[in-house]
Amino acid sequence: MPDTRHLSRRAFLGSSALGASAALAGPLQNSGKTGPNDRVTAGMIAVGARAQELLEAIKQVEGTEIVAVCDAYKGRLERAVERTGGRAKIVSDYREILNNKSIDVVTVATPDHWHKKMVIEALKAGKDVYCEKPLTYTVDDGNEILEAVRQTGRLLQVGSQGMSSQTQQQAREMIRSGKLGKITMIRASYNRNTAGGAWIYPIPPDASPATVNWEMFLGPAPKRAFDLARFFRWRCYKDYSGGISTDLFVHLCTTIHFLMDAKMPSSVVAMGQLYRWKESRDVPDTVNAILEYPEGFTVNLSSTFNNQMSSEGSFQILGTEGALTIGGSGLNYYAETAVEDNKWIVDSWPRALEDAYYRDPKVMREELPSTRPPKVKETVQTFREAGLEATIVHFQHFFNSVRTRKPTVEDALAGHRAAACAHLINRAAETRKMVSWDFSRENIQA
Ligand SMILES: NC(=O)c1ccc[n+]([C@@H]2O[C@H](COP(=O)([O-])OP(=O)(O)OC[C@H]3O[C@@H](n4cnc5c(N)ncnc54)[C@H](O)[C@@H]3O)[C@@H](O)[C@H]2O)c1
Repeated sequence: MPDTRHLSRRAFLGSSALGASAALAGPLQNSGKTGPNDRVTAGMIAVGARAQELLEAIKQVEGTEIVAVCDAYKGRLERAVERTGGRAKIVSDYREILNNKSIDVVTVATPDHWHKKMVIEALKAGKDVYCEKPLTYTVDDGNEILEAVRQTGRLLQVGSQGMSSQTQQQAREMIRSGKLGKITMIRASYNRNTAGGAWIYPIPPDASPATVNWEMFLGPAPKRAFDLARFFRWRCYKDYSGGISTDLFVHLCTTIHFLMDAKMPSSVVAMGQLYRWKESRDVPDTVNAILEYPEGFTVNLSSTFNNQMSSEGSFQILGTEGALTIGGSGLNYYAETAVEDNKWIVDSWPRALEDAYYRDPKVMREELPSTRPPKVKETVQTFREAGLEATIVHFQHFFNSVRTRKPTVEDALAGHRAAACAHLINRAAETRKMVSWDFSRENIQA
C-alpha cells in the first residue's frame, strides 16, 4: 500500500518512478554466479513495515524468490508468509538464513543498531546484501562494513531508493548539463505535524511477551526491561536510531551526493531541540543543520515535527542560471530571470551623475526596460513521474548486479558517507560545536 501520509517524502523518494534507464534497469542479465534460468533466492532479515514494502517490490522482479523470513514480532512473520503465498519459510534466528547455502541474497531491514552486525555476518557468509538506509548506526560501523566488503568481494546495496527514481536521474542530468549554472546552495526539509509522522506508530493489539521477542530486538543495544513503545517506535530512542538525521536527512544526503557528485561535507554545524513530543522520545523533534562541501556549495537541512509546511519542493537546488525543486509537484526547473536594476541607488546621486550613468550603452542595455532587447525565454519546466515504483527499480538494479557481478548503484561507500553526514549532524548538535570530516580516515576528525 502506498504511504500517503508523508506525500513530500514519498514524492521526493520517487514513489512512482518511470522505469530506470535502459542501461541500469534492463532485463536481468545472464552472467556471473547465477545461471540464465536460475532463480535468485532471498532471505529477509526483518519483515517490519519497510520490509513488507521490500517484499512486494522483490516479488515484482522476475527470477527472484523469497524463501525465508525472520522477525522479532509474530504478526509480521504471519503477514510476510501470507504475502509470499505461503512459500517463505519462517526461521527463528537470522543466522539460519546466513547458514542456508541455498540462499543467494539477504535483505536487512531491522532497526539501525543491528545493521552493522547483520551486514558483516551476511557478507562473511557469502551473501550479497541489500541493507536499508541508514547503513550504519555509527561512523565506525561504516568503516567496518567497507572492510568486510573489501575482504569478501560480495555485493552490498543500500536502500535509498530515491536515487533509482527517474526524477533524480533527470535532475542529475540537468545539473551535469550546466543548465543551473554554478550551484552554491541546496535547501532540503522534511516537515510533519502528526503523531504518526513523529513516529508514534500504533502498537498492534496482540503485541505482548508471547508475540514479541524483546531480547532479539535488543541485540547489541543496552539491556532494558520489556517495552513495547521502544520495540515499535524505536526511531524515537538513541539506543537504536539517530532520529531525524539518520531516518530522514540520510535520504537527502544520498541524493545530494548523487546529484552533485560530492563525497562528504568538510564541516557541519547543527542544532537539535525537543520542543513538543517530550514524553515519547529522547531524540530531537526539530533539527537544523548546515553542511559545507569542498566541491563549492553549502547545504541547509531542516526538519520539524511541529508543523507540516514545506516550501514548494522540499528540495531546492539553487544555481546562478536556474533552480530545481523536487517535491509534491514533481521535478521543476526555474530559469533565473533576475535583471540588473540599480535605480534606487543611482537615484540618490547628483542628477548629472545619474544622467551620465544611464547614458552608458551597457547600462542602457542591461537596466532600462525601454531599451533592453526583447527576448523570450523558457522559464519553467515541470516533470512528473509515472510508472514503476522506485523501490522496485532499485531492486531491479540490485538483482541485475547480483547476476552480472557489476557494482551496485548505491554501494557501501555511498551508504557509509550518507549515514556519516547524519552522524556528523548529530555530533555537532550534541556538542554544540562545528565538526569536520577527515577525508583520509573516512571518519569524524578527532
Ligand atoms: N528506504 C525507505 O524509504 C525506508 C522507509 C522506512 C524504513 N526504512 C528503514 O528500514 C529499517 C526498518 O524500518 P521499519 O520502518 O521497517 O521498522 P519496523 O519497526 O517496522 O520494522 C523493524 C523490524 O525489525 C524486526 N527485528 C528487530 N530485531 C530483529 C532481529 N534481531 N532479527 C530479525 N528481525 C528483527 C522487528 O521485529 C520489526 O518487525 C530501518 O533501518 C529504517 O530506517 C527505510
